[in-house]
Amino acid sequence: MTSPPEVRRRPEPQAPAGFTYGDYLCLPQLLDAQHPRAVPAVHDELMFIVAHQSDELWFRLLLHELAAARDAMLAGDAERPWALLTRCHTVERLMLAQIDVLDTLPPAAFAQFRPALGGASGFQSVQFREIEFLSGWPDGRYLAARMSAPERDRLQRRLDEPTLWDGFLAVLGAAGHDVSDPERRAGVLVDLARAGSDPQGLWRLAEALLDHDQSWSLWRGRHALLVERQIGVQPGTGGSAGASYLRSRRDRHFYPELWEVRSRL
Ligand code: HEM
Repeated sequence: MTSPPEVRRRPEPQAPAGFTYGDYLCLPQLLDAQHPRAVPAVHDELMFIVAHQSDELWFRLLLHELAAARDAMLAGDAERPWALLTRCHTVERLMLAQIDVLDTLPPAAFAQFRPALGGASGFQSVQFREIEFLSGWPDGRYLAARMSAPERDRLQRRLDEPTLWDGFLAVLGAAGHDVSDPERRAGVLVDLARAGSDPQGLWRLAEALLDHDQSWSLWRGRHALLVERQIGVQPGTGGSAGASYLRSRRDRHFYPELWEVRSRL
């Protein structure tokens, strides 16, 4: 006797009567969080604030997706992390394109409202640094940046937890590969790259990680150009040398072993 088909019931409504779009998205709070500070007012400052806030919202989503991808990989799964990384890569392309909006900022207008920033700088973006730590580039020196105590605790936790690279090695290990040292890993990656088929989705996952790495380098390079276009060689409000500091970080990879394997093929 066959069992009856499973009936999937539509979930009960969980929202109170009269619940609106604005309630769901907390729009009153969100749209009350843009506070241009320049005196006298400079028209372009609102765009500068919105561009940064929308990036921080994307960072929030990226952290959610990247952490889920890392956890799934640590559990030996290669399928779901690939889908999550594909979403991340799509968001990252959007973030790269978004920088074009900031190119419409006349540098003389920026010079007018820049003093209103004081010592504030993207250098202090905790979410940006969390993404770098989680991705595979943990650098404890950034804990010394100006930030609140809860932000520092959050960053310290990211520094202590496994990275996406740890997750990837766990997936390779779960599939039976010996990844105990860089040379053995290089051999595994060469075999995966050369294999005509990829039934376990391991090479596809490696390529998704490389896409994430590449996107981050592209963003860093694009942001450095934006900075040069706005402030030339002046130092940053966060205390760095500005464009030259940013360029020095541009080509650093999260996954050098995934790049190096290309030279062995
Ligand atoms: C007119 C636009 C912008 C200018 C002139 C600018 C300028 C700078 C400068 C000079 C630095 C170096 C650190 C310092 O302040 O000394 C920096 C770092 C940074 N900025 Fe921007 N920025 C702009 C737009 C953005 C946007 C839209 C974001 C998005 C969140 C952003 C995020 C960051 C991050 C995350 C860093 C740290 C990078 C790192 O350490 O590798 N910036 N920015």
